[in-house]
Order: sequence, then structure tokens, then C-alpha cells
Amino acid sequence: MSSEVVEDEISSFFESSPPLKNMDGIIKKLNRFIKLNSSSRGENHQSDWREEDRVCVTSGGTTVPLEQRCVRYIDNFSSGNRGAASTENFVKAGYAVIFLYRRGTCQPYCRSLPDDPFLECFEFRDKRNIQVHASHLEAVKLAVMDHQAAVADGRLLKLPFSTIYEYLQMLRLIATALKDVGSCSMFYLAAAVSDFYVPWESMTEHKIESGSGPLDIRLAQVPKMLSILRSNWAPNAFCISFKLETDSKILIEKATKALQKYKVHAVVASELSTRKEEVVVVSSSGNVVVRRDCDKPDESIVEYNLIRLIVDRHSTYIKESHS
Ligand code: PMT
Repeated sequence: MSSEVVEDEISSFFESSPPLKNMDGIIKKLNRFIKLNSSSRGENHQSDWREEDRVCVTSGGTTVPLEQRCVRYIDNFSSGNRGAASTENFVKAGYAVIFLYRRGTCQPYCRSLPDDPFLECFEFRDKRNIQVHASHLEAVKLAVMDHQAAVADGRLLKLPFSTIYEYLQMLRLIATALKDVGSCSMFYLAAAVSDFYVPWESMTEHKIESGSGPLDIRLAQVPKMLSILRSNWAPNAFCISFKLETDSKILIEKATKALQKYKVHAVVASELSTRKEEVVVVSSSGNVVVRRDCDKPDESIVEYNLIRLIVDRHSTYIKESHS
């Protein structure tokens, strides 16, 4: 497909999308965050903190509404675990992170808390006071401290989305806001983005009637945004895309094709059932398998070594683009 046709498809996708709620508020938050991280910072900041490094981490799955006043939607499996764990490690590496996440999915610093923290973590001391249950004290303390430090230090901005329409409009806003940061910015696109959707104008307004028998819905293809992100929205940013397959036999071939087609700097490939154990980073310099190591506390999640590798590659990219 020619680049003009792709651009036309992308324009018509945005033109027919329902407008983003609170767009001005999101732009304000973004600009404030980016400005904060480009002004000179106080002495209490870590010495290895490179104030210009920023990453947009996308996380969780996009939904596809079936009705304009949405009651039903199509969803996918993504838990947001990879995006949340990666965000923590990017913050640790000194990055300012824009965490574009699906509402209700896994959050940075919350991964070690029980699933239902309010009910599980707290107990009444007396009628007026509640306290953290001793068995969860360490996990809660660490989660609260690390999260507050990242936010107070201006290193974490969280922006939620639900639908494919919201996700792609917000990604475009972020890319546009980061354009001037150039090679020091990174896109780490771990979200599971819907490939098919119901165009807004062909969607019924009200709840689909259930009494008229089986339902036929025609889904249109969501245009791939990677191409325009690379060519237009943020051409100098370092760009990491992801590829997930359930058939390991085609995984590397698909990731390699995506690397060439979208001209991203690396593709992180994983297979559904082993995605928490290992990933393969596919790039023009070869393929690197990254595994977790349960014997080492830090490395017990695959994202620890993954982010170290990606940060290292990004540093080389920045140096090369400044030379
Ligand atoms: O959330 P977890 O449960 O921890 O799981 C993490 C993960 C497995 C979801 C994540 O690691 C992952 O692999 N995400 C990408 C899933 C995928 O295969 O996406 P895709 O093949 O549909 O898209 C590939 C790339 O194209 C993605 O980086 C996506 O951002 C991009 N894309 C997709 C659709 C679209 N319309 N435009 C795009 O640019």
C-alpha cells in the first residue's frame, strides 16, 4: 500500500473519531510535564539523571465499542503488567515517563500488592483508625514510597484511555508534544492495540437489541499508526514496537518484517504463554533473547534486563544522532 493511501486512511480514522474528552486538560498536563523535565533541576536530583530523557510507555489493551452509548465492547487479554513493570524500570534508569495506560489495568508500583488491596491490606485498629496489615506492610510501604517519589520528582505522568479512539488520539498528542525533544525521546509501544474496529459513523447509537437473533457486525481495519509515528509525528524519537504471537514458529519472522516495514529501532517479540519468561529483541544488529532470572531478586521479571538493554541502545542512538 502506498504511503499516500496509508496517510488518507489515518486522516479519515481521526476525522471520523468521536472527539477526545478533556483534550485541553490533557494537553496542559503534557506540556507542564515536558516543561518541568526540560528546566534545570534542583541539586537533590540523582546525579545520573539525564534530564532530557523521556519515554512514552503504552500499556494495556484498547477496547472497541459496539454502540456509541457504549454498553458492549470488544476487548483483549493484555493485563498491563509489562507496561507497568517497564515504567518502574525506566524511572529507575532516570527517565521521565508518560504512562499511557488502559483504565483499570496494572499500575506501576502496584504489582506486588494483592489484587484487591483495600480489602486485603488494611485492618481496623479501632473504630476511627485503620492500619496496614502487618503481612502487607513492607509491600505497601515500598509501593507508596516509590510511587510518591516518582510523581513528586516529576518523573511519572499517568494518562488513562479506554477505547481505540482515545488511545490513538492521545498517542498523537503525546508524539506532537514530544517532537522537539527529538532523539532523547522514546516510544515504547507495549499496548495491545485493536486491529479491527467499528467505525463511529456506522455504529448504532443505542444498546443493540438482543431480541432480533444472531448479530452480524462488520469490523474495519484500524490503520497502523507506527508508520506515521515514525515518518511524521516523531521522526527523531527512538521507537520500540512489540509483536505478540501465539504460534512461536512465525514470531521472529513477523517481528523482523515489522522492523523493516515500520523502520522502528527494535521490535520486542514474545509468545503469549511465555511472555513473562522471555522476549526476543529483534533489531538490525541481530536478535537478543532476554530472560528473567528467578535466582536474582531484581532480575525475577523480564523487564529488568529488557529495560537495561533498551536504555543502552537509546544512549547509543542519542550519541550517534548528536555526532
Ligand atoms: O499487558 P501484558 O499482559 O503484560 O502483555 C504485554 C503484551 C504481550 C501485550 C506486550 O508485550 C505486547 O507484545 N504488545 C503488542 C501486542 C501486539 O502484537 O500488537 P500488534 O501486532 O497488534 O501490533 C504491533 C505494533 O503495532 C504494536 O507496537 C502497536 O503499538 C502497533 N500498532 C498496532 C495497531 C495499530 N492500529 N497501530 C499500531 O501502530
